[in-house]
Amino acid sequence: MIKNICCIGAGYVGGPTMAVIAQKCPHIKVTVVDLNEKRIAAWNDKDVNNIPIYEPGLSDVVAEARGRNLFFSTEVDKAIDEADMIFISVNTPTKTYGVGKGMAADLKYIELCARQIARVAKNDKIVVEKSTLPVRTAQAIKDILDHTGNGVNFQILSNPEFLAEGTAIEDLFAPDRVLIGGDTTTEGQKAIQALVDIYANWVPKDKILTTNVWSSELSKLTANAFLAQRVSSINAMSELCEKTGADVNEVARAIGMDSRIGPKFLKASVGFGGSCFQKDILNLVYIAKTYGLNEVADYWEQVIIMNDHQKRRFAKNIISTLYNTVSGKKIAFLGWAFKKDTNDTRESAAIYVADDLLSEQANIAVFDPKVEEKQVYFDLDYLETRKSEANKSGLVVVDNPYEACKNAHAIAVLTEWDEFATYDWQKIYDGMLKPAFVFDGRNLLNKAALEKIGFVYQAIGS
Ligand code: UDX
Ligand code: ADP
Repeated sequence: MIKNICCIGAGYVGGPTMAVIAQKCPHIKVTVVDLNEKRIAAWNDKDVNNIPIYEPGLSDVVAEARGRNLFFSTEVDKAIDEADMIFISVNTPTKTYGVGKGMAADLKYIELCARQIARVAKNDKIVVEKSTLPVRTAQAIKDILDHTGNGVNFQILSNPEFLAEGTAIEDLFAPDRVLIGGDTTTEGQKAIQALVDIYANWVPKDKILTTNVWSSELSKLTANAFLAQRVSSINAMSELCEKTGADVNEVARAIGMDSRIGPKFLKASVGFGGSCFQKDILNLVYIAKTYGLNEVADYWEQVIIMNDHQKRRFAKNIISTLYNTVSGKKIAFLGWAFKKDTNDTRESAAIYVADDLLSEQANIAVFDPKVEEKQVYFDLDYLETRKSEANKSGLVVVDNPYEACKNAHAIAVLTEWDEFATYDWQKIYDGMLKPAFVFDGRNLLNKAALEKIGFVYQAIGS
């Protein structure tokens, strides 16, 4: 029976997942540790609204469990030492150097965790991979743990997280499935059962799947690749729709009613973002290439190529529609996050569209309900396209949508925040230069209503 859980990494995965485990299992002490002191301080902020991650419903869960059986701390060694089960939820970004640069997952942080566990552990522990990892990472973790020589037995489980940001709490409360991969040995099966017992506190047994470790690791990459592929597929059709007079929303509805295809994940957009899709597909491509499976690699790489095209084509269309120049023109961005209901901006399409427009000397004003100014500049600076000062002079972040749109030549909708649809669009129109253009990268706004006001409105795929 597990009494003490430690989770290494207090990010978008570790934070919400552990908060829900703690809420659903009051008999288990859950300690989330991170090296980032500021992040931990924010998780411990007296005002639960100041926790570092915005997710609908998360602050209520944290408020209930924090201080009871949910703790956030920077004392990594202590938490490892006390735990029977350790979740690894650290980041695994795409490598930016050396072999596999731009493709392979950087496992530096995972390895550091494994080494730290190996150094600190004095009794047997179950180590759970929560981060999305390349298939066979568990073997690497096991090698490190088994060669420490202090006689401790480790069981490695793979338990990939399928939550989507913005709906993390719903997804954790009622997951489609929980996947647990482990060794086929008796010890391995015991470890699997220990984790099954934790989820069984709130997840129906028939939704808890157990597999071998490699299937579990690969299933996560496969699920993300399939989801991303659907978005790239509908986005590919969106461009064809624009040329032929078909409407991508109608096409999506028509094909989505086929029960074999299904209606979800068929929303054409300016391109998918988020920390997972691109990274996981690149990773898949890299693994396939490593095994010499070039056709498999090329097949999946196409999903990324299509997505990059979709982002670039959105920016190009803005430029060509604004009479082939945006130099010195104000363009308002509604949204910076990679999707609604999150403050996460990793790989957001907005970053790339802004980068292209800044290269054309546009003046951009960004409004996002949840993203902070410093994050916007961080995202742009990270691309290293131009000097930091140039990003600051070309782009401003404002905290009011009407101010963002004031005197703008065009508005670009980059995130599908619900509130954008409820704005006073007449007031926005009155404050803009004419013709007033709207480029709706999320097919969110009401075309007929906007055209009636006088906007020149362009959506994706129609
Ligand atoms: C994804 C997976 O859904 C989740 O299971 C996994 O654990 C992590 O990766 P996430 O990245 O949080 O989750 O969000 P998701 O809802 O999948 O959206 C990813 C991107 O695709 C967003 O930019 C979203 O706007 C875009 N998208 C999604 C579309 O453009 N159209 C769609 O129809 C669906
Ligand atoms: P994810 O979306 O996968 O949760 P994040 O980047 O939001 O990714 O969170 C990962 C967290 O893991 C970060 O807060 C980072 O500081 C933390 N982290 C990385 N390596 C370690 C480590 N060795 N020990 C403790 N925390 C770590």
